[in-house]
Amino acid sequence: MKTPSHAALITGAARRLGRAMALCLAARGYDLVLHYHSSEADARQLKHEAEGFGAEVHLLQGDLRDLNWVESLMQQAHTALPHLNLLINNASAFYPRRLTESDLQTLEHFLDLHLKVPFILTRDFARHCGTGQIINLSDSQVNKYPTAYAPYILSKKALAELTALSAKSLGPQIRVNAIAPGYILPPVDGNPDEAAQWQTRTPLQRLGQIPDITQALESLLDNPFLTGQTLWVDGGHRL
Ligand SMILES: NC(=O)c1ccc[n+]([C@@H]2O[C@H](COP(=O)([O-])OP(=O)(O)OC[C@H]3O[C@@H](n4cnc5c(N)ncnc54)[C@H](OP(=O)(O)O)[C@@H]3O)[C@@H](O)[C@H]2O)c1
Repeated sequence: MKTPSHAALITGAARRLGRAMALCLAARGYDLVLHYHSSEADARQLKHEAEGFGAEVHLLQGDLRDLNWVESLMQQAHTALPHLNLLINNASAFYPRRLTESDLQTLEHFLDLHLKVPFILTRDFARHCGTGQIINLSDSQVNKYPTAYAPYILSKKALAELTALSAKSLGPQIRVNAIAPGYILPPVDGNPDEAAQWQTRTPLQRLGQIPDITQALESLLDNPFLTGQTLWVDGGHRL
């Protein structure tokens, strides 16, 4: 389905789930501002592929831990594409740290990426764009307490609260929802044994796949009565 006059900003878009969502949106007729940090070659390739769908595509490079730069990010995106009406807070870090192993820098790292950056971008999306949708990438473990990932999960819990608070604050002009993936892609430096364990403990007895995420994205885009919602794309693993 072609969706004219729509445009999205995706953080951390160059690879993996960000890339898949970008191509899904380009195929639906969205123009794109694709933020990336270190994956320049992947970002350029993605821009080329998205342009193949007829999309106008802009790349924005930056470290999201530079919060002064983040304060200008939405304005840059909105100047590039004044019809911007979708924000996807996707950029993420993921590595284990138990509470007793964690220092404040680690906590700050996760809070920057998963709370402060989405907070700034959500506020600025409302200010600059006025109407549209925001989708936050959560985690299917967000209502649990995986102690090996203490700072990570705390930051994703904070993002879940931001999703609910901003859905209530920004309606009816802006809908805010979350996608909570289970095991879709292995972590970049992850333990390969975790995949098999995860699959065994999942009611649907398989890992997730990229189309599971893009279908969830399309469901949130297409249903105009959803806000403050979390779509659990985890085969039931959280149960
Ligand atoms: N993959 C899964 O199975 C899974 C499971 C549960 C939840 N999720 C959530 O779904 C979302 C996408 O998952 P993913 O696995 O595709 O994400 P990812 O590969 O871990 O990270 C996405 C991008 O975030 C960017 N990023 C990291 N630190 C940054 C920084 N300081 N400044 C700017 N950008 C930074 C990186 O961009 P560059 O490459 O350009 O540096 C990276 O490519 C994440 O929010 C994740 O928490 C995923």
